[in-house]
Amino acid sequence: MSTEKQVRQPWVVGVSGASGTPYAAAVIRGLLAAGEAVDLVVSRAARLTIMDETGISFRDAHWRQDLAQWTGVEELDDVRHWPAGDFAAGPSSGSYPAKGMLVVPATTGAVAGIALGLSKDLLQRVASVTLKERRPLVVCLRETPLNGVTLKHLVELDAQGAVVLPASPGFYAGGSTARELVDFVAGRVLDAVGVPHRLYLRWEGELGAGGKAG
Ligand SMILES: Cc1cc2nc3c(=O)[nH]c(=O)nc-3n(C[C@H](O)[C@H](O)[C@H](O)COP(=O)(O)O)c2cc1C
Repeated sequence: MSTEKQVRQPWVVGVSGASGTPYAAAVIRGLLAAGEAVDLVVSRAARLTIMDETGISFRDAHWRQDLAQWTGVEELDDVRHWPAGDFAAGPSSGSYPAKGMLVVPATTGAVAGIALGLSKDLLQRVASVTLKERRPLVVCLRETPLNGVTLKHLVELDAQGAVVLPASPGFYAGGSTARELVDFVAGRVLDAVGVPHRLYLRWEGELGAGGKAG
């Protein structure tokens, strides 16, 4: 019998202050449903969007309770939370065994900070670490229209190996409710890092065959 302790290898989910907090909730649900561990970093600005879009006041001290309300997931043993100002947090070091990072949703500010390597908060620091360690980084931008500065930053992120994945739901998977469209984007985020899910119905080459995600 092996006495080796299994190393916890989480995905870091960075939630920045863009509209689209349901995307983050759907990604977290998808990761947990797939048996993945999650390390959560919520930017200061994201507290405003979470409040605006869900009515939940997200508090570091009560994150478990607030996250359960936000995601609808009660079993959160596989989740760790790190305050956005905690630069001593585990994932701020490359030696922390994170699998990679998903920034969902990403603001233009987070895109800029990551592209320029600013590390102005823990979210941006972990993104920098993820790039330097050559781990997968997915940036799910939510903004429209885009100015030239953001477009340049997105090209830089792509050049650095990040997956730029705009929160841009497709309607071909039969999405007719907001939840289905949100799940489509969340599913594409998980596709980008190879995490299996059943969040949307995949295209199989037949027009008009879209239906409910199975
Ligand atoms: C209700 C609300 C919605 C916002 N939506 C967006 C958005 O969709 N995209 C974006 O880039 N910024 C958006 N912002 C602005 C960002 O929150 C702001 O630029 C902030 O500095 C981003 O900080 P962060 O990247 O550290 O989270 C929004 C702000 C609020 C209060």
